[in-house]
Amino acid sequence: MTFTPADWPRKLRSQEWYGGTSRDNIYHRGWLKNQGYPHDLFDGRPVIAILNTWGELTPCNGHLRELAEKVKAGVWEAGGFPLEVPVFSASENTFRPTAMMYRNLAAMAVEEVMRAQPIDGAVLLVGCDKTTPSLLMGAASTDIPSIVVTGGPMLNGWFRGERVGSGTALWQMSEDIKAGKMSQEDFLEAEQAMSRSSGTCNTMGTASTMASMAEALGMALSGNAAIPAVDARRRVMAQMTGRRIVQMVKDDLKPSDILTKEAFENAIRVNGAIGGSTNAVVHLLALAGRVGLDLTLDDWDRLGRDVPTIVNLMPSGKYLMEEFFYAGGLPVVLKRLGEAGMLNKEALTVSGGAIWDEVAQARNWNEDVILPADRALTQSGGIAVLKGNLAPGGAVLKPSAASAELMQHRGRAVVFEDIDDYKARINDDALEIDETCVMVLKNCGPRGYPGMSEVGNMGLPPKVLKKGITDMVRISDARMSGTAYGTVVLHTAPEAAMGGPLAVVRTGDMIELDVPARRIHLDISDDELAARLADWTPPGAPDSGYARLYHDHVEGADTGADFDFLKGCRGNEVPRDSH
Ligand code: FES
Repeated sequence: MTFTPADWPRKLRSQEWYGGTSRDNIYHRGWLKNQGYPHDLFDGRPVIAILNTWGELTPCNGHLRELAEKVKAGVWEAGGFPLEVPVFSASENTFRPTAMMYRNLAAMAVEEVMRAQPIDGAVLLVGCDKTTPSLLMGAASTDIPSIVVTGGPMLNGWFRGERVGSGTALWQMSEDIKAGKMSQEDFLEAEQAMSRSSGTCNTMGTASTMASMAEALGMALSGNAAIPAVDARRRVMAQMTGRRIVQMVKDDLKPSDILTKEAFENAIRVNGAIGGSTNAVVHLLALAGRVGLDLTLDDWDRLGRDVPTIVNLMPSGKYLMEEFFYAGGLPVVLKRLGEAGMLNKEALTVSGGAIWDEVAQARNWNEDVILPADRALTQSGGIAVLKGNLAPGGAVLKPSAASAELMQHRGRAVVFEDIDDYKARINDDALEIDETCVMVLKNCGPRGYPGMSEVGNMGLPPKVLKKGITDMVRISDARMSGTAYGTVVLHTAPEAAMGGPLAVVRTGDMIELDVPARRIHLDISDDELAARLADWTPPGAPDSGYARLYHDHVEGADTGADFDFLKGCRGNEVPRDSH
């Protein structure tokens, strides 16, 4: 439906800038007219910002300028006034020390851009891992009507007849080189095969997971998550999203209407069903904090325990996002959860209706990609939340990516004080380690790294790999890439750099992992642990700059690693300027 200004039920916030004849109105309007906009565009129709995370150094989002044109077409068709606005784009594959260090900065910038500018609604044009949560967090804190459209995944990678999954193949092949199973020349040849089209990682990595989370939360149109970047239907989705945001503004359908506890429960269950990234845990906890919801790690464990992983995608399974789309995509998964009584069917979405109405007619076109429950990759696909004296605040493990035989394991700790220590010693055949040991990596949490890098799936020592061993228990306060796999305990909280017990683990200590009992235990006495902690001294802080702000204000992974001063919704009221 196309609207005319006369249809609008109320004066929109953009009219504070553009409506009227005051000196300020002329100042705001007149300068924008230098782009060639006719006067009648300022007549009260909604201004829709297309918040674009495009950037040539964010290759996963390299096609978003073209997609923005389709969003604009949709906004124009529906009677809105679209304006493309570049926002902070934290690229996963280039940002150092890690893109995660900049998620909060991006979210803060997006929030301020939305509040400070004459925006009535926003299309969040995102793709690469951190771009989706950062824009959602910023939008949630302003509560301006917003809708997500993602750039979509790359086409399948193929190398010598085998699927090559983004990231997953990289980890596998680099281990194969260390084990002497692959040559460097073959590795270089495989490089191009991994990324053969525009788009985000084609595995169920963090980008695909967060696209699925946005859809499951109700913040994207149904079916958005899986459409490949280069499929014409991705562009149709962008245009439909442009049309939809105009109606959302008219209906005043805001993030706070959609991002309810029920929506988060749906997303957590979806994460289990798709074998989604552990990164979703920190991002959803942070997003819930922006809307003031009481979401905890315990919710992740409780809601995910009985969810079978039915999406057979790497890194947990066999296929890639292109095949997930052909099989029916996320609507099929949501329908299956609904039929199993695991979906809050009435949860509201950007469509203005209930999520169940969006998915009830979905059909599964390939039961080897979206599996029947009795052939699920694992019957307990959710994120396992472990607690114990080693992780009083909790730690996470992804059962669908772990080895069944290591889910209960006791082993001798081999400790790396930080990532540099790990890199310096891991390839040394003199390192006293075998496959029964537990690898422990410290100081890679939010404050420690800084930024909580994706190094938790640290590669195994070559001398273990050469025996044909492919997995060991690993524990850290780091994250791991959504494309990675292994029996990896992550996000240990409190982190080492904040004085958590992880900081005082020593090589030779015994550690017990018991995933069914949700337990992670350092086998030393309480007195010994207390004595070691009393001796611990915190690492120094950066002197200045954003790194200092980050150090001083980032919270633990167990609450989402947001800044303490950014929690909550601050709305979109803003003082007038003084021209
Ligand atoms: Fe950008 Fe995977 S590195 S989506």
